[in-house]
Amino acid sequence: MDDPSTSVLAVEKIPLSDDSVNGYIALATINRPNKLNALNTEVMDSLKRFCSWVEDNDQIRCVIITGAKPLPAEEGKRPKPNAFVAGADISEFVGMDSKATKVKFSDNAVEALWSLTKPTIAMVDGFALGGGCEVACSCDIRIASQRSKFGTPEINLGLIPGYGATQRLAKLIGYGKTLEMIMTGEMISAIEAHKIGLVNHVCSEEELQQFTMDLAQKIASKSVFTLATAKRTIKAALNNTLDEGIAIEAEEFANLFDSKDKEEGVRAFMERDKAKWQDK
Ligand code: COA
Repeated sequence: MDDPSTSVLAVEKIPLSDDSVNGYIALATINRPNKLNALNTEVMDSLKRFCSWVEDNDQIRCVIITGAKPLPAEEGKRPKPNAFVAGADISEFVGMDSKATKVKFSDNAVEALWSLTKPTIAMVDGFALGGGCEVACSCDIRIASQRSKFGTPEINLGLIPGYGATQRLAKLIGYGKTLEMIMTGEMISAIEAHKIGLVNHVCSEEELQQFTMDLAQKIASKSVFTLATAKRTIKAALNNTLDEGIAIEAEEFANLFDSKDKEEGVRAFMERDKAKWQDK
């Protein structure tokens, strides 16, 4: 697959600023601005295909997920607000029963995003609600503009989150804050989200793109092989006891001493040279 773009997911290849490194950053924009980029079946299918493409493509060193900006307002109508993703597409829930839900929500795109071995960044400008908050939580790093709002409003639909927020949000912000967000369904500001550890950085709307790109470029200039080891080892903290996690780290750390990139990184330091990663 050369280009995984679809009508609801625009994929761009962003060149690297460091020309000594091969590859690019993949920027995926969820593109349903008139529906606040809500996750319908087509978006979820596109995102899943995008994730397989990322995993199979050695050139991709970092991934950014974002939402399309609002289109100009139609005549006589108010403009739509900015959104990362305003949740799962609620219109698809009408009449849906548990059997259909298990099929729709099993092995879904949010899990595919979470399972990527490459670094992922959510660039959030506007509403990140329900499934949108969950897409953001399934990325490694979240950067938000000041006007962004986060929330898990499923309770207002007689539901709870179904793309992982009861678990991943709780790991990010803790048990108490997660209960409050899920039980009240209230939105919180980007500043509050930053305060509780839901987002890594908050910047102005104007700075958001540049800030995110700079961060992605920095990460993309490292060894993809070492980054994957770092991600896998840190994620082990979520599913293991501290002692088990430390044992996993010891094993992963030692294994890196057999890698080409450890030799290259150490050589470059000793010779005051720039490392040329082989990604192995
Ligand atoms: N699913 C389907 N459509 C959605 C949607 C969703 N999750 N969120 C927004 N939309 C649609 C609206 O139906 C509307 O479509 P229309 O213009 O064709 O009628 C359009 O996006 C714009 O949304 P609107 O509600 O008019 O904007 P607003 O500025 O008044 O309110 C929100 C913005 C985010 C507060 C409001 O859209 C909202 O509460 N969305 C649902 C959030 C939610 O519950 N998410 C969890 C889903 S499980």
